[in-house]
Amino acid sequence: MNALSNTSSSTRQKKFDTCLSDINKGQNSLVLLKPDPMVIATKLLARKQLIDTGKQFNMIAASWIQFMIHDWIDHLEETKQIELKAPAEVASECPLKSFKFYETKEVDTGLSGITKGHRNIRTPWWDGSAVYGSNSSAVRHVRTFIDGKLKIADDGLLQHDNDGLPVVGDIRNSWIGVSTLQALFIHEHNAVCDALKKEYHDLDDEDLYRHARLVTSAVIAKIHTIDWTIELLKTDMLVAGMRANWYGLLGKRFKDTFGHVGGAILGGLVGLNKPENHGVPYSLTEEFTSVYRMHSLLPDQLLIRDVNSTPGPNKSPKISKRLDMINLIGKNGEKELSQIGFTTQMVSMGHQACGALELYNYPVWLRDIVPQNTDGTDRPDHIDLASLDIYRDRERSVARYNEFRRSIFLIPISKWEDLTDDEEAIRTLREVYGDDVEQLDLLVGMMAEKKIKGFAISETAFIIFLTMASRRLQADRFFTSDFNEDVYMKKGFEWVNTTESLKDVLDRHYPEMTDRWMNSTSAFSVWDVAPEPHNPVPIYFRLPK
Ligand code: HEM
Repeated sequence: MNALSNTSSSTRQKKFDTCLSDINKGQNSLVLLKPDPMVIATKLLARKQLIDTGKQFNMIAASWIQFMIHDWIDHLEETKQIELKAPAEVASECPLKSFKFYETKEVDTGLSGITKGHRNIRTPWWDGSAVYGSNSSAVRHVRTFIDGKLKIADDGLLQHDNDGLPVVGDIRNSWIGVSTLQALFIHEHNAVCDALKKEYHDLDDEDLYRHARLVTSAVIAKIHTIDWTIELLKTDMLVAGMRANWYGLLGKRFKDTFGHVGGAILGGLVGLNKPENHGVPYSLTEEFTSVYRMHSLLPDQLLIRDVNSTPGPNKSPKISKRLDMINLIGKNGEKELSQIGFTTQMVSMGHQACGALELYNYPVWLRDIVPQNTDGTDRPDHIDLASLDIYRDRERSVARYNEFRRSIFLIPISKWEDLTDDEEAIRTLREVYGDDVEQLDLLVGMMAEKKIKGFAISETAFIIFLTMASRRLQADRFFTSDFNEDVYMKKGFEWVNTTESLKDVLDRHYPEMTDRWMNSTSAFSVWDVAPEPHNPVPIYFRLPK
């Protein structure tokens, strides 16, 4: 997989830099601290009472997107620390009165237009690096070197080293929701190794590993495209759009029978005869990082279900206990997970809605957490993640909300009432930003924005999602010119083509779980929801509701 290995430190570029407003160009304290990030975190972000997504999106979905972030992005830091101090007006409400963190490292890009950028220390490709790692030592750490397989513990969860840290490609700033998904995809990888070995006896450990990685990464990308994203943006139009990205307008049945026919529209992006990077070397942009700042998806507690009970209405299990999320991160979380077990964890996440991306819904417990180094070890200085999320966008010169919208051809707001109908929010926005709507931070704007019906995210974030969802596939040879039986091997290619959803993967490894506990159609919506009714109208012919 040479296209993957040589890109692990690709320079990140600001895709929309020419549209950045002057307010974001200088890195002086006026730009970085006005209005104060801790004031914004306290007055506009901090959760008052949990707002959840109803039945649309569950805790597996929240863990999934973090699992993807740990595949795609992480910024290289400086060795220099910065300190933020809570202004007197909010200090008594801030869990930390001040906190220290490392600056993001700025590097020369070597380009003439965009001269400065930041380094991504994860591979930006869709290559399963949360499972496999972003560098050769992480990859070696997780491999058994027997029959291509990866290490996994006997209880079906991740193995741990002598320090209690999980053995998997990426462990930084994680929690047990993510490590459960990592374990699931290690099972998937190992099952692909078995299937390939059975079919092609002469493949050695290296061949098996590489092909199984290719197959498993494609399964992950496919689930994200035609299962996760569809639940996030629940409209027929988006179902059609995302399926068209993978299968094309001619559809799955046609593609399975005749292969990729026609261009991107008829045949889909996947399987195009050559990668397309639109004249810009593939990288993930700062704007991409910003729209994925979705810490509000996390609740305060995980509700643990009793999987030994008899299923209740709509296959719902009884709640046996409530665990504080703060105890489910890092090493402590891993200890907890070994008590909980894989099935209980997955079923519990399946039955719990995740938090909504709204104002006043940022978990307060994330305002006092222990951040980790890349090797998963704890840092001495606690951080206030809500304030840091605001600071990071400014530090990385991401445009504020209005300018960001202009740069992607969306209408900016001219008054707070354009953004939201919530009177309390309008009052507080005015208190924090005055009447200067141009100062509104991107994250705050995205949380406050009135959402399109069916969308769990803002329209502003959606544009970036859509662009990058296509680019991640289009720019990668393993999803275009090399997405074929020769490269994936016949058995591996068939594996990708016959896996349609996360439910398919769960069913493969835990055959009784979804049958007993999942009523919904997708593993990403709350599991006690009614299954999607059969719609005889083909997806591309449905009228918008
Ligand atoms: C318990 C779960 C989580 C913990 C403990 C956690 C913690 C962290 C920490 C410590 C950072 C680095 C902050 C900095 O120095 O800038 C971070 C960054 C980030 N997190 Fe989370 N996070 C969690 C869940 C999530 C979820 C569910 C998402 C949803 C997409 C998410 C998205 C991000 C993004 C986009 C970044 C920025 C990455 C970068 O700067 O390269 N996180 N998180």
